[in-house]
Amino acid sequence: MAAGIAAGTPQEPSHFPVMLPQVLEGLRVRPGGTYLDGTLGRGGHAQAVLEKLGPEGRLLLMDKDPEAIASAERLFGRDGRVALYRGSFAALADWEDTSYGLDGVLFDLGVSSPQLDVAERGFSFRNDGPLDMRMDPESGESAAEWLARAPEAEIAEVLWQYGEERMSRKIARTIVARRAESPITRTTQLAARLTF
Ligand SMILES: C[S@@+](CC[C@H](N)C(=O)[O-])C[C@H]1O[C@@H](n2cnc3c(N)ncnc32)[C@H](O)[C@@H]1O
Repeated sequence: MAAGIAAGTPQEPSHFPVMLPQVLEGLRVRPGGTYLDGTLGRGGHAQAVLEKLGPEGRLLLMDKDPEAIASAERLFGRDGRVALYRGSFAALADWEDTSYGLDGVLFDLGVSSPQLDVAERGFSFRNDGPLDMRMDPESGESAAEWLARAPEAEIAEVLWQYGEERMSRKIARTIVARRAESPITRTTQLAARLTF
C-alpha cells in the first residue's frame, strides 16, 4: 500500500497515510505503550501514532530505504520517544530496542510514493530511469543486474509469485530473447521491449 502525497514543504513533503483511522483503531495506542512501525516510509502513520503517545511512550521505526531514515531523522530526530533502525523488518528480533516487548506492530507493505515518483529509483516506467528497484539502493543487486543474469524460469517464477502476472512465462521468454540483443538497463526500455 502506498501513502499518498499531500501538499507539504518543498524540503519535506507530507503524506496522507492510507487507512489511518483503521490503523489507529487496530493499534489502540496507549500513551505509555511501545509500538513498532516496520515500514516507516515518509512517516505518515508514525506521526499519527506519536500524536497519541504520551511522554513515556516509545515508537520504534524501521525501513530499508536510506531516504526514509534520513527523512525520519529530520522529522523525529529530536523526539526522545523515537528510535530508528535502517534495515529490514526481517531483522526486528535482532534490534535490542524490540526486546523489551511491543504493544503493537504496523507493517504497511509495498512501495512508498517517493519511491515511485523519483525516476532514479527505477520502480516505475511512467518516467525513464535506471532499472534499479531496490528499497535500499546501497545493497544487493539492481533489477537490471538481476535481469541480465537470471535464468528464464527464475524470471517467470518471480513475475508469477510476486507480480501475480498471468503471462509470466511469455514475458520471461521475451526478456531473455531481448537481453541477448542488448542489455536492458532502463525502465522505459524494459516496458517498450515487452510489447509482443
Ligand atoms: C507503503 S510504504 C510505508 C508508508 C508509511 N506507512 C507512511 O505512512 O508514510 C512501505 C515502506 O516499506 C519499506 N519496506 C519495504 N520492505 C521492507 C522491509 N523488508 N524492511 C523494512 N522496510 C521495508 C519501503 O522502503 C517503504 O518505505
